[in-house]
Amino acid sequence: MQVQEMAKKTVVDIDVQGKKVLMRCDFNVPLDDDCNITSDDRIVKALPTIKTILGGGGALILMSHLGRPKGHRDEKMSLAPVAGRLSELLGREVVFADDCIGPETKAKASALASGDCLLLENLRFHKAETIKDKAAKEDAQLRQAKDDFAKQLADLADIYVDDAFGTAHRDNASMYTVPALMEGKPRVIGFLIEKELEFLGETLSDPKRPFVAILGGAKVSDKIGVIESLVRKVDRIIIGGAMAYTFLKGRGKSIGRSLCENDFVDKGQKLLEQAAEANCEVVLPVDHHVVRELKPGVTYRTAVGDIDPGFQAVDIGPIAAQKFKDNIADAKTIVWNGPMGVFEIPPFDEGTNDIALAVAEATDNGASSIIGGGDSAAAVKKLGLEDRISHISTGGGASLEFLEGKKFKCLEILDEK
Ligand code: 3PG
Repeated sequence: MQVQEMAKKTVVDIDVQGKKVLMRCDFNVPLDDDCNITSDDRIVKALPTIKTILGGGGALILMSHLGRPKGHRDEKMSLAPVAGRLSELLGREVVFADDCIGPETKAKASALASGDCLLLENLRFHKAETIKDKAAKEDAQLRQAKDDFAKQLADLADIYVDDAFGTAHRDNASMYTVPALMEGKPRVIGFLIEKELEFLGETLSDPKRPFVAILGGAKVSDKIGVIESLVRKVDRIIIGGAMAYTFLKGRGKSIGRSLCENDFVDKGQKLLEQAAEANCEVVLPVDHHVVRELKPGVTYRTAVGDIDPGFQAVDIGPIAAQKFKDNIADAKTIVWNGPMGVFEIPPFDEGTNDIALAVAEATDNGASSIIGGGDSAAAVKKLGLEDRISHISTGGGASLEFLEGKKFKCLEILDEK
């Protein structure tokens, strides 16, 4: 299940003294309505690489996306708050460039001295950042736009560093086109990516058994590839969250007004058949907390089996929670991605909390546990269980694609040891 067979060079393998270093981070941090950062985890986890480069005498230019602004400037998705937080964490000024490209940014980058740090504004304020390589291959204009944008970034620096594990599954310009254009210059990974690849690779290449996957969240469509791959690798898949109802509908259950991807009901059944053929047990919820209307403070009831019309499921019920916990208790390898219910609205976080605790307890008993995805990671943190989990990945989609066995194109082109 190794994504990269060859070990990649890291920032310790290069000399950054007096060099301009362009580093792709994943500073896609959650912000509240007033643009305050509600979790600085992704910033904190980039610090070791940042400090190493600054300490080594490099002039550092940081770039990232935040949210999905779709090619337009949107102040609600500005990286300015990240510059502020990073300055606090580093105890030194982080200069902020109002745009990631253009003459002013170029001037700011040129003016950097050894040990200085510049953060560029959200890459995704430019449409070119997210043009897919497939689209660029088929359309010369798109290719040109993506290349022009990437060239402006590539021209800023002598060295490229990728520490954006959370974005490693994307073919964004800053992830692939920029390092491709910097061929001949050092192109290496940072400590965060190195740690993620090592941990995920080692745990998953020879997993201790029983190997249990827990999947939640809203959509089956997002997780088809990973489920197809997991049924051949794991002993059990526990499925909760709204995605469970697409499977339950296919099994002929009444699901009321619960979320369901009708176009994927048949696909869901095929996945269950594939699992049965591979001797992989699939555990679905048998009871549910349901409401007529989803709003804070609403009273819920518990439905066992079928859900009445007019009601929607918002969390797993107590029988399901117990069954899930029993299936986690003896696991020796656990991967978990996605909440069991609408966990941001208590008390519909109960199922997710139960799972978090069960994973922590299994880890106490010797299991290797990997949690990916912002919501599952947030649940673990809210309960103060971080220290009882083997690895909390900074990548949601990226850790799923890693699990799926996909290769990360952006890493393949970086320098090997
Ligand atoms: C994430 O939060 O999973 C990464 O930052 C990638 O974001 P994206 O799904 O918008 O590309």
